[in-house]
Amino acid sequence: MNFEPLKNTRIIDTALGKEVDKIPVWIMRQAGRYLPEFRELRSRFDFFTMCQTPQLAMEVTLMPIKRFDLDAAIIFSDILVIPQALGMDVELVSGRGMVFPQPLKSPMDIDKLLYPVDVKEKLNYVFEAITLTRHNLKGEVPLLGFSGAPWTLMCFMVEGETSSTKSKAKAWLYKYPEESKKLLDLLTDVIIDYLVGQIEAGAQMIQVFETLAEYLNKSLFDVYCYNYIKKISKCVRTKLKEKNIPEVPMVIFAKGAHYALKELSEAGYEVVSIDWTINPEEARKLMNSNITVQGNLDPCALYASSDTLREITKNMVQNFGKTRYIANLGHGIYPDMNPDNVKIFIDTVHSF
Ligand code: CP3
Repeated sequence: MNFEPLKNTRIIDTALGKEVDKIPVWIMRQAGRYLPEFRELRSRFDFFTMCQTPQLAMEVTLMPIKRFDLDAAIIFSDILVIPQALGMDVELVSGRGMVFPQPLKSPMDIDKLLYPVDVKEKLNYVFEAITLTRHNLKGEVPLLGFSGAPWTLMCFMVEGETSSTKSKAKAWLYKYPEESKKLLDLLTDVIIDYLVGQIEAGAQMIQVFETLAEYLNKSLFDVYCYNYIKKISKCVRTKLKEKNIPEVPMVIFAKGAHYALKELSEAGYEVVSIDWTINPEEARKLMNSNITVQGNLDPCALYASSDTLREITKNMVQNFGKTRYIANLGHGIYPDMNPDNVKIFIDTVHSF
């Protein structure tokens, strides 16, 4: 595919435990509604049309790169493209968030999913967007790919709508343990092919979002989360070897899974991303020392005054230590945040 050589390797090097000149930084949801240029484009196109149109996805991916001194781009897409590929309708409804008009109501609905699915065909638009974006990045910074993790996707598919308890999806784990595993297994297989496809298309690092791990406890996590995220890292690497494609670093973000940080650091990922509710020093103590840690500014710190934001960011970096560290927020940025503060955050990290 003849991509230009990568000029900024900070984030990749840090993931692999190498020394770098400056701490690398990127921001979860860095291409989104807090940017006026995103809102302008979004006013003309439906969200999933933007995801499905490589030219638009590429333009959005580059928006934050043009504005800020970021060390990575992340492909503009969504974790819910997998349920869509499995035949489920997903709509972004203003004021209600992501809505599945026909969620999985009982385990019998699993058989209605279009599975097995030809990921190459159904999600080819993501792969095309990745390749196009790699060309347009011209090697400035690496391009990250991503996927939702099985439990988080299952949660959306069963809940069908925003819920504060996730009690419908959790009820499955208690009432239908075997059927839940069947669904999680199926999702795991799709995710593996999807990530391999992204890497094949040009993604240079991968993040797996288990955003809803915070609704589990250690025993549920062990059965319904851990095995699957371990299988993902292992099988992605095996499949890449079979296809003679070089491996890329992998990041796991299991939001709220403080009860399992040690296990997460042994799950076959180079980087563990931590949310903003845990102290970095504590988190490092709980994890294997050969892991790179990513995180974890409270996104709401971006509402602070410039001076306070600089102070909080400095404290955070000192608390993490400068080696094996990728700076980020502890979760995605919100739509009402000020892009100027994003610049302050990034520049403060780089000033070390
Ligand atoms: O810049 C980036 O980080 C890349 C793009 C990206 C999006 N979603 C774009 C998006 C990424 C990495 C995601 C991941 C994602 N999507 C997650 C995991 C990470 C997290 O933040 O927890 C989850 C849970 C989703 C599902 C999702 N997508 C929901 C629940 C919503 C609606 C709620 C909301 O924030 O409005 C989305 C919509 C979405 N995904 C937007 C963007 C830019 C907003 C779209 C819009 O309204 O214009």
